[in-house]
Amino acid sequence: MLTSIFGSLALCVQVAFAIFPRAPIVALPKAPSGPVVSRNGTQLAPIDTVFFFDQLVDHTNPSLGTFKQRYWHTAEFYETGPIILFTPGEANAEPFTGYLTNETINGQIAQQQNGATIVLEHRYYGLSNPVPNLSGENMKFHTIQQAIDDLAYFANEVVLPQPNGDKLSPATTPWILIGGSYSGALTSWTMVNQPNVFWAGYASSAVVEAILNYWAYFQPVREFMPANCSADVEAVIAHVDQVFTGNDTTAIQALKDNWGLGELTFLDDVASALMENLFDWQSLQPDVGPGATFFEFCDALEVKDGVNAPATGWGLDTALPAWGSFWNSSYLADICGDDDVSDCLGTHDASASFYTDTAVDNADRSWFWIVCNEVGFLQDGPPEDVPAIVSRVVTTDYSFRQCVDMFSDVFASTADVPMAAGIANVDSKYDGWNVSIDRLFFGNGLRDPWREATVSADGVDRASTATQPIAIGDGFHTSDLLTDNGLVDPTVLAVQKQGLSFMKTWLAEWTPPSTSSKRDEPQGRRVNSSRFFRS
Ligand SMILES: *[C@@H]1O[C@H](CO)[C@@H](O)[C@H](O)[C@H]1NC(C)=O
Ligand SMILES: *[C@@H]1O[C@H](CO)[C@@H](O)[C@H](O)[C@H]1NC(C)=O
Ligand SMILES: *[C@@H]1O[C@H](CO)[C@@H](O)[C@H](O)[C@H]1NC(C)=O
Ligand SMILES: *[C@@H]1O[C@H](CO)[C@@H](O)[C@H](O)[C@H]1NC(C)=O
Ligand SMILES: *[C@@H]1O[C@H](CO)[C@@H](O)[C@H](O)[C@H]1NC(C)=O
Ligand SMILES: *[C@@H]1O[C@H](CO)[C@@H](O)[C@H](O)[C@H]1NC(C)=O
Ligand SMILES: *[C@@H]1O[C@H](CO)[C@@H](O)[C@H](O)[C@H]1NC(C)=O
Ligand SMILES: *[C@@H]1O[C@H](CO)[C@@H](O)[C@H](O)[C@H]1NC(C)=O
Repeated sequence: MLTSIFGSLALCVQVAFAIFPRAPIVALPKAPSGPVVSRNGTQLAPIDTVFFFDQLVDHTNPSLGTFKQRYWHTAEFYETGPIILFTPGEANAEPFTGYLTNETINGQIAQQQNGATIVLEHRYYGLSNPVPNLSGENMKFHTIQQAIDDLAYFANEVVLPQPNGDKLSPATTPWILIGGSYSGALTSWTMVNQPNVFWAGYASSAVVEAILNYWAYFQPVREFMPANCSADVEAVIAHVDQVFTGNDTTAIQALKDNWGLGELTFLDDVASALMENLFDWQSLQPDVGPGATFFEFCDALEVKDGVNAPATGWGLDTALPAWGSFWNSSYLADICGDDDVSDCLGTHDASASFYTDTAVDNADRSWFWIVCNEVGFLQDGPPEDVPAIVSRVVTTDYSFRQCVDMFSDVFASTADVPMAAGIANVDSKYDGWNVSIDRLFFGNGLRDPWREATVSADGVDRASTATQPIAIGDGFHTSDLLTDNGLVDPTVLAVQKQGLSFMKTWLAEWTPPSTSSKRDEPQGRRVNSSRFFRS
């Protein structure tokens, strides 16, 4: 089975699915263990205790009632401090309860400020679903605006399982919203759209700007991977593009066979499969050693008879068979297991189960709905003037077709997929790179493949200010959220220390909002969900 969008984060759930764009998902902290004891010595409920919140199915029409939204909570460090809300975003939230503890920046802030922490499962993920299945029709309540409204409604209405739990709304207590990756963007978008709920925000690797053709995902990878490895990957990819766009069927077949992919009919599936090795970069963290899959891949290409290639690499003749041998000896089996290669890596069969299975708790499917309707982020080959570590045979059309195959009950053809309009709406409504909001902290990493969608993107040049600081270290994706990363990388520690310091300053400035502003209507227009469906 192919590793899911979560790559080698190795969530317990791995689903058989073909190549989708990689999702911007927050890093997984260590699973908490042992009993939890409050500051006064009282034994508290275990960290994995599940609580349920009655969330509105549709914030534009409360008469549709509520569904059970799962959350986890602890008052381990609580002594009348802030309430710290976090959602992992596009995942079943169960493996992410480490975000309640001081293994993460969330818990560090709670510990510093005597606050309580919450992990809230995002609607349409895990077991928090307003609908019985994930058919296209049933996705009508799955919008970024509904997710923003969930966070605000939760903060205003929840009765927390702790002392005074019914008196801790944002009217009487400062709330802090934290997120990373997509949920980092959601943090920024929520503070723009619902300005009077969260007093402060911490957004790590926040992909605030939705971008349709996101070839730039691979720019930080190319820039920071070993030079010999990028040189050789470029050489192989140039060769692949030359052969795959030519007419020599014998050469095409031989090239497919190099990776054990001879039975794949479509060349875009072969070219897309080769992206997997580059996607492994997203799983890197400062505390991950040289044994990580990405570095095993580079070692396979660059170490010959115990000797490292020079910075220019070995060249095509060595790199091509070396890459093939890496797949043949372990990589293909690692991603596809016993599955047939066509089932695992082919995307052209619309009757395949990963398109037709609408069962809930399928993060890939739920995320792909957001991809097709609101954020894009399609990872593909770069423009001709940019060196390519990913084949240009993979274009945005590769994903557009899959939107239709996945949600065939609402999209008759690619013309029905409202991706471009949805992205324009998201970027104008929630301000994208132009965000300007008080008490919002951005933490970023130079080596993050998602950096080009953050306020630290090359050429975006957002200034760091005292009210909206931007701290950047050498980290990877959402590295500053995990305590361990600060222990091994002083630049990540510096990001975390700035975040903690700003939270301290801002919480000292807290004043209760005036009652009139508490229930202000969100600014900007509501998404008209009917535009998602063909008439
Ligand atoms: C100790 O903390 C627990 C949980 O936070 C609370 O229920 C209890 O009332 C506290 N006891 C005292 C004596 O403060
Ligand atoms: C983190 O919290 C635990 C209790 O859960 C505590 O024992 C430990 O000292 C804390 N770590 C730091 C660095 O404060
Ligand atoms: C999905 O749920 C809808 C109700 O929302 C139901 O009508 C439909 O039959 C379900 N589809 C499947 C495949 O279970
Ligand atoms: C491939 O063949 C087609 C027609 O058979 C021709 O139009 C095209 O130019 C050829 N392409 C290359 C790269 O030779
Ligand atoms: C060459 O590749 C090896 C093995 O992956 C790596 O350790 C080394 O840093 C690389 N050297 C250069 C100059 O890129
Ligand atoms: C990989 O295995 C295939 C058979 O599945 C073979 O045709 C190909 O030559 C192998 N590649 C390398 C580089 O050995
Ligand atoms: C950001 O501001 C610039 C200049 O005012 C404008 O051209 C651009 O469209 C804005 N972008 C977004 C996403 O709002
Ligand atoms: C929503 O869009 C549909 C179709 O484009 C339109 O008929 C309807 O009037 C819109 N509703 C609102 C409230 O804008």
